[in-house]
Amino acid sequence: MDKQIRWGILGAGRIAQKFASDLKLVEDAELFAVASRGKANAATFAALYPAARQYDNYESLVQDPGVDVVYIATPHGLHYEHTMLCVQHGKAVLCEKAFALHARQAKEMISAAQRQKVFLMEALWSKFIPSWQTMMEMIGNGKLGEIKNVLINFGFIPQAPVADRLYNPALGGGTLLDIGIYNVFYALSALGKPDHIEARMTPAATGVDEQCAVLFRYNNGAMAQLFSSYSTHLATEAGISGNKGRLRLTHRFYTPETTVEFYPGRADTKTIVPVQHTGGWGYHYEAGHVGECLRRGLTESPVMTHADTLMLMETLDEIRRKAGICYPADEA
Ligand SMILES: NC(=O)c1ccc[n+]([C@@H]2O[C@H](COP(=O)([O-])OP(=O)(O)OC[C@H]3O[C@@H](n4cnc5c(N)ncnc54)[C@H](OP(=O)(O)O)[C@@H]3O)[C@@H](O)[C@H]2O)c1
Repeated sequence: MDKQIRWGILGAGRIAQKFASDLKLVEDAELFAVASRGKANAATFAALYPAARQYDNYESLVQDPGVDVVYIATPHGLHYEHTMLCVQHGKAVLCEKAFALHARQAKEMISAAQRQKVFLMEALWSKFIPSWQTMMEMIGNGKLGEIKNVLINFGFIPQAPVADRLYNPALGGGTLLDIGIYNVFYALSALGKPDHIEARMTPAATGVDEQCAVLFRYNNGAMAQLFSSYSTHLATEAGISGNKGRLRLTHRFYTPETTVEFYPGRADTKTIVPVQHTGGWGYHYEAGHVGECLRRGLTESPVMTHADTLMLMETLDEIRRKAGICYPADEA
């Protein structure tokens, strides 16, 4: 592969725009092609970011030999189909979260990529941002002591026009797979796989979760309490507490714009932990990492591994089972 990593974007919606904008911050990467179901949308997107090639269908994108890697930015309910399409055409894939609707789909996607020997990674972008790394370093170096609890909330009221994907069961709608997934990912990062999971939800009119409350319990006594909502604007903060101190990741805890505050012992006084963010929305960190993996000829990221994705997906499945969040794809 030559030096420049040429990206293709599949699905030109909201997140695709932010990703395309951040690709400009990645050295040796370019947005090469974009595919949208709509010709006009593809043309507008390609002109704006810009992209050399534009397609009004996804098939043509995956058949373009100039594309090194495809970023899948469609709703979760389509990630299985679109990842399979890319992998069957030998394209490396960065697939948005939630990776799939359930763990069975995720396993098939990973197996297909392994068979075809192509790179596949879940776009769990927060794992690549400096504030997440700072949190993990502070947990790892014992600054917080033994982690005893994690308290996270993530909530907003979707503004009109509300994207169909947020409430459509066929597309994996509801808070859990859209925003609660970050709560779950941060709790798994801080405490590992839970020994027991409890969960409840309030259904929206479509049956998906309008609000979801999750409790992780661990055999060592630790607990995580996670809450996601489309009914209220919440602080969207994370608290990670140990027996020596606690961390507070302020508003939009899962992004580079959060502030990491450290509260030692019983003290109310806090220290702001310095975190270096290099600008943009923060999607350039994961995009740069994918480029490095491709240059090294890897088919799996050593940071966001297939095992990480499966553990996350299996945990989400179990939460859905406990809370009664069902999708048509569960029957298949
Ligand atoms: N990492 C993050 O921070 C982040 C933030 C937001 C969303 N996401 C994830 O990114 C994915 C897309 O979210 P989004 O907010 O960008 O959604 P969105 O604005 O609705 O865009 C999704 C795009 O997918 C394409 N699409 C293909 N079939 C579709 C269908 N049946 N219904 C709707 N769209 C369809 C459309 O693009 P074309 O018409 O151009 O083909 C659409 O614009 C989700 O899985 C979400 O969880 C991640």
